[in-house]
Amino acid sequence: MALKKPFTGIGKTYKNMKITKICCIGAGYVGGPTMAVIAKKNPNIQVTIVDINEQRIAAWNNPDVSKLPIYEPGLAEIVEETRGKNLFFSTNIDKAIDESEMIFISVNTPTKTYGKGKGMAADLKYVELCARNIAEVATSDKIVVEKSTLPVRTAQAIKSILHNIGSQVNFHILSNPEFLAEGTAIEDLLNPDRVLIGGESKIAIESLANVYGSWVPKDRILTTNLWSSELSKLTANAFLAQRVSSINAISELCEHTEANVNEVAKAIGMDSRIGSKFLKASVGFGGSCFQKDILNLVYIARSYNLNEVANYWEQVIIMNDHQKRRFADKLIKTLYNTVSGKKISMLGWAFKKDTNDTRESAAIYVTDHLLNEQAKISVYDPKVPKEKVYSDLNYLNTRTEQENQDNVIINDNPYDTVKDSHAIAIMTEWDEFKNYDWKKIYNDMKKPAFIFDGRNVLDKSEMNKIGFEYFSIGQ
Ligand code: UDX
Ligand code: ADP
Repeated sequence: MALKKPFTGIGKTYKNMKITKICCIGAGYVGGPTMAVIAKKNPNIQVTIVDINEQRIAAWNNPDVSKLPIYEPGLAEIVEETRGKNLFFSTNIDKAIDESEMIFISVNTPTKTYGKGKGMAADLKYVELCARNIAEVATSDKIVVEKSTLPVRTAQAIKSILHNIGSQVNFHILSNPEFLAEGTAIEDLLNPDRVLIGGESKIAIESLANVYGSWVPKDRILTTNLWSSELSKLTANAFLAQRVSSINAISELCEHTEANVNEVAKAIGMDSRIGSKFLKASVGFGGSCFQKDILNLVYIARSYNLNEVANYWEQVIIMNDHQKRRFADKLIKTLYNTVSGKKISMLGWAFKKDTNDTRESAAIYVTDHLLNEQAKISVYDPKVPKEKVYSDLNYLNTRTEQENQDNVIINDNPYDTVKDSHAIAIMTEWDEFKNYDWKKIYNDMKKPAFIFDGRNVLDKSEMNKIGFEYFSIGQ
């Protein structure tokens, strides 16, 4: 779409589009680490991350960097190095928008919980609020960058809002999806496989490419049209999730045939056409992106009446739900068909290791299922705060908050957690689990002592030697 006016703003004219100030709306798992790395690599650019959540901003400003709201290896060090120099955290959204040439929208886009598209479509209300906010306060031209994962053609909606609110300034919209994975976010940002920039304005694309160009090699900065960029993000996540569901489907077959899923994954992964990554069988994928993005893809395909396309991708989610469910069912069946009144210990609550994020974590759904069967649950996770475990369970609305409180205990210490339990379920692949004193744990448990290793982190023969009844995925 052509711009209405040349790209020269009131009180400001971009000659070479040099970016001196960046604003990022949304201080979450994407905005925080991404902007920290941009600030570190561009000491001459002032980066301000803003959020409506005052508590979150206060936590980002905590002088003790071990208390930042997000745990990511390497993040605290970068924040310590840049904060107060060229990286700022603020709740003054309007000021940061107005003084910046480039604004990243990095707010959450959860699956809708109401109305049309409920349970499938992305809820774009936060993105729309940002677009309106930008349009209302901008007094100079802006490059607006979509960072949040968005359905294809969201840029159209953002454009329409920005260009129709009556503001005198020009806006360029770019799509710059984030491919970082939590737990390795800093490494992924410092060393990306590629940076994708979709847009229409060459100058705007170039100015964003220059920001990344201070550390990312040119040949890894890919430019496309807006819609390809938006769709590529959804597609990348759908393909990755599909690999996990594919190997998880095979894991069930392995359990019935004495094949070992780890061996199968290794054997197929050595085929360079298949590749070895994302073939780790597990209790099921979690995280804020995979399920949401596939549901989004399915919803979009259905909206164009592409039912075969929609059904194809939906199967990835169906398989993932099945994997979580069958893990819980196997535990119940093995414990003589009842867990009522039995203590089951969950080791790990985060959706993967090295993050404190619990969104869509398999642990939540497995625990919910076990609570329905009247189990007593104890939980230990090295990084997830106590309140988060309760709020995750309360959010499901399966039972009262009091009932969750009464039936779930959260410990700070793994040995207290597992003491006297009938079974342990390993839900997250935290490295520390491998180094526990498993003999001591065995001695402290009810017998027979069961382990259900949802991440295949422990050694089966070693566990059997100690005396455990050990079950894992696909072995
Ligand atoms: C994902 C994408 O990888 C990333 O590019 C995108 O920007 C956001 O979504 P993330 O959800 O943070 O990142 O983590 P990821 O490493 O992809 O893991 C997602 C889930 O799949 C986790 O629950 C993980 O444990 C699980 N998983 C991953 C497996 O069960 N097996 C695997 O082999 C890989
Ligand atoms: P992500 O994983 O995509 O980064 P998060 O939920 O971790 O998602 O972070 C998104 C952040 O965006 C939250 O801290 C939320 O408060 C913030 N946010 C949402 N809407 C707005 C808005 N209109 N203005 C400013 N911040 C917002």
